[in-house]
Order: sequence, then C-alpha cells, then structure tokens
Amino acid sequence: MKRSEGLSEFELVILKSGIKSLRALGNMETFHPVTGPWIEANELHVEQQRLVERSKNMDGCFVVWDVGMGAAANALAALEALKTNPSTEIQLHSFDKTTAPIEFALNNAEELGYLRGHEVLIRQLLATKEVRVTSQIHWTLHLGDFQTGLSDPQIPSPHSILYDPYSSSGNPEMWSLDHFRALYQRLDPHTPCLLTNYTRSTAVRVTLLLAGFSVGIGRSIGQKAETTIATNQLELLEQPLDLRWLERARVSRNAAPLGPVAQEVTPISNADFERLKQCAQFDLARV
Ligand SMILES: C[S@@+](CC[C@H](N)C(=O)[O-])C[C@H]1O[C@@H](n2cnc3c(N)ncnc32)[C@H](O)[C@@H]1O
Repeated sequence: MKRSEGLSEFELVILKSGIKSLRALGNMETFHPVTGPWIEANELHVEQQRLVERSKNMDGCFVVWDVGMGAAANALAALEALKTNPSTEIQLHSFDKTTAPIEFALNNAEELGYLRGHEVLIRQLLATKEVRVTSQIHWTLHLGDFQTGLSDPQIPSPHSILYDPYSSSGNPEMWSLDHFRALYQRLDPHTPCLLTNYTRSTAVRVTLLLAGFSVGIGRSIGQKAETTIATNQLELLEQPLDLRWLERARVSRNAAPLGPVAQEVTPISNADFERLKQCAQFDLARV
C-alpha cells in the first residue's frame, strides 16, 4: 500500500460530545464512537479490567494484548495507567495489519489530543517495532494479520486483551467461532485473562461462549447500556450472563454463532443452543 493511500483512508470526525476521533472511510466506522478515544479506552478497557490492580503483586510479568492497535488510544491509556505501578514488569503487545490509522492520527495529533506528548515514542515504535517505555514497560508492535500473529509462540499468553477490531459486519474474520476458539486455546489456563469489547451483540456473545470463554455483561459506556467482557476464569466476572440471558438468546433473531464471512442475521439452531446450554457458567447458575 502506498503511504498516501493509507492516510486518505481516514478522516477526523467530531462526536456529539465535541471530542474528535477518526473514521475509516472504507467501512465508515468511527473509532471509539460515543465518548471518544481517551474516555472509552479508559472506561471500557483499563478501568473495567482493573489493569493497575491486577498487575500488582505479580511474580512474573503482566502481559497485555492490544488487538487492533489502530490509532493507539487503547494502548496509550493502558500504558499511562500501568506506569503508576512501577513494581511489575509489563509487556504490551499491539497487533494491527496496517499502520495507516496511527500514521493518520500522528498527522492530526494536536486535534486528537490524547496523542500529544507520545509522538516520539510512537514514531520509534513504528520504526523499530519495539520500544522501552519505562524501565519496567516494554511495547512491541506485531504488524500483520492477528489470526496468524496470535499463534506466534514467542509472544507470551496475555492477562488482558483489549479487543478492538472493526465490528463483526465489517471485519467478520476477527469474530468467527474458529477465530475465537484459536484465541481461547492460546490463553494459558493458569493465567487469568480478561477480554473487553464495545459490542453487546447476542451473536458475538454466543460465539465467545461456544469458543470456550465465560462471558459477562460489561459496563455501560456513554448511552450504551452494556458492553461485553469475557474471560478464561469465570470467577473474574462480576455479572456473568445468566439463565434469563440464555432464554433471550434462544428466541433472539440474531444468535447464531458467527462464521468467517459476513452472514445474515439468524436465530441459533437447536444443536448450537444445546451446546450453549452446556457452557459451565449456565450449569453453575442452575445450582
Ligand atoms: C476500530 S480500529 C482500532 C482502534 C484502536 N484500538 C484505537 O485505540 O485507536 C480497528 C483496527 O483493527 C485492525 N484490524 C482489523 N482486522 C485485523 C486483523 N485481522 N489483524 C490485525 N488487525 C486488524 C484495523 O486495521 C484497525 O486498525
């Protein structure tokens, strides 16, 4: 891709809140569309995952996967928060298949605000693909398809996944059952991990559950009443999806697990619903 092509794929938009963000012209998706990049990154990912608290008192290093680095709001919010914990070694692994959004954002750093003061660090990351942020924090950029990158054995399994590709309609390969199965299997069962995302889609939640994750109601962001949080250790969830949610999924028009290409909205099949009912979190809810 020529440099000018990448940069012209984005535009700046002013959200209702008055905050500026990026919009991808290819799929017309706005990054962090309601509360803006910095507030959403902090509320949805950093605070909800209790990154600072969970990274304290660790034996080894605390590993964060920033999936869909985009214009780096999530990554920078995580770094700023984790800098307040100088006692733990932190590895931040960012994944993206393109640097076009971050290059566009750097060209508009003044207007976007949250990048101010981080430009040198990010340019260094783009140039060398890894950078030492503080003596305790190391940031690596993995450029390429995340579906391939996630199986790189050199990258340690995460404690935290800031999951932020485009939506399932525009970026279906990042939401498919096979993809989430591969991601779940890549987690270390002994390393408690949380994944947060803006969606509240029943189909996405069904897909995560069938892939092996435990899934809960994530915190409200702006006017959006709930989002989604998933984990490999059920006890980390404050509000696991319960039997009432399961009943709603059974009758929902949009609850079939997702495939690797965009699909029509479809109810869940009887066979998939039987599998969904067997997920551990519903078993425990019954007793
Ligand atoms: C909504 S933007 C992410 C915004 C970003 N997290 C931020 O804080 O600015 C989605 C990003 O996911 C990336 N992406 C989509 N599919 C991907 C894939 N298969 N592998 C790696 N990155 C992907 C896109 O290139 C894009 O930069």
